[in-house]
Amino acid sequence: MTKPLTILGLESSCDDTAAAILRQSGDQAPEILASIVHGQTDLHASFGGVVPEIAARAHAEKLDHSVEEALAAANVTLAEVDAIAVTSGPGLIGGVLSAVMCAKGLSAGLDIPLVGVNHLAGHALTPRLTDQVAYPYLMLLVSGGHCQFLIAHGPEKFTRLGGTIDDAPGEAFDKTARLLGLPQPGGPSVQAEALNGNPKAFRLPRPLLDRPGCDMSFSGLKTALLRARDAIITEKGGLTVQDRADLCASFQAAVVDVLAEKTRRALALYMAERPSEPLLAVAGGVAANTAIRAELETVCAESGATFTAPPLALCTDNAAMIAYAGLERFKAGARDDMSLSARPRWPLDQTAPALLGSGKKGAKA
Ligand code: KG4
Ligand code: ZN
Repeated sequence: MTKPLTILGLESSCDDTAAAILRQSGDQAPEILASIVHGQTDLHASFGGVVPEIAARAHAEKLDHSVEEALAAANVTLAEVDAIAVTSGPGLIGGVLSAVMCAKGLSAGLDIPLVGVNHLAGHALTPRLTDQVAYPYLMLLVSGGHCQFLIAHGPEKFTRLGGTIDDAPGEAFDKTARLLGLPQPGGPSVQAEALNGNPKAFRLPRPLLDRPGCDMSFSGLKTALLRARDAIITEKGGLTVQDRADLCASFQAAVVDVLAEKTRRALALYMAERPSEPLLAVAGGVAANTAIRAELETVCAESGATFTAPPLALCTDNAAMIAYAGLERFKAGARDDMSLSARPRWPLDQTAPALLGSGKKGAKA
């Protein structure tokens, strides 16, 4: 029997400092022995967004502790680690550098291989980590920082079918919550309000549905919501509880409609490749939204594709996904060295035209 492979994964490209230990024996399903995530929400809360310098400093302070915590939780010593996988982009450059430098130090000190990982590949390969999904599958990444459709053909081969040209949907949920005085993160609070609202109360736009293709836009939706809110305030002097619920329901319905129609189109392009086990996987914090999930499931059922969503802790930023993407690269023979650089931009599909939007957390496309 071959010796199991033990990978240490590191992630610090945005506002989560994460370390994980992943182990795989032969071709068996990989096992997450530990996944430690230290968020920085409180550090950035008063600034209305992630402050890159504060993020980088916090990563540098937290990384070695995170590695120690992951090793202890996994009951693994550094001597048992076979390789280090690290996010080397895309993301906020100071943050990416923190983990890249930490990984280089560990790799040199322990004399073990180093594998750089694209953060988006980490998200995109998660369905293989959790469900051993076969290539090719369709992926919708939908969070506060990402929104794109990808066909995953292999660990380093992706076709991007489209993405947001401005805000990511999670960002639009967060801004909507802010405009309506609801707590952050906005997704869960808007979803909760929407339960009591009428989704047809306000006619909000469905941006880019009138144009072909799978690109999306969410910034105009937020502006339309602001106008609807101000019109009510001008007319009545304030918002009632019902107005707020109706605004949330109308906003959420618009996001659901856009994602559903664009998913229908992305599925049609993917199905044209005649995959033997057609599957759409969704990942990212917005995948937690029950209305969005339900609609995507329906769209998949109509197209004859299976729908899957990894557990939420593996949908949001974490290092287990980085360790797994590193494991796939490692097994394919990829190795990096001390020249591994931190990349602020690093599209998964180098042939696709650049997307204009970058999301609230920095350049991601
Ligand atoms: O993937 P994630 O944790 O971080 C990145 O953005 O990279 O996603 C966080 C985003 C936030 O914008 C949050 O409001 C959104 O996911 N979110 C939701 C829900 N839960 C979290 N959006 C809509 N509905 C939800 N239930
Ligand atoms: Zn991410």
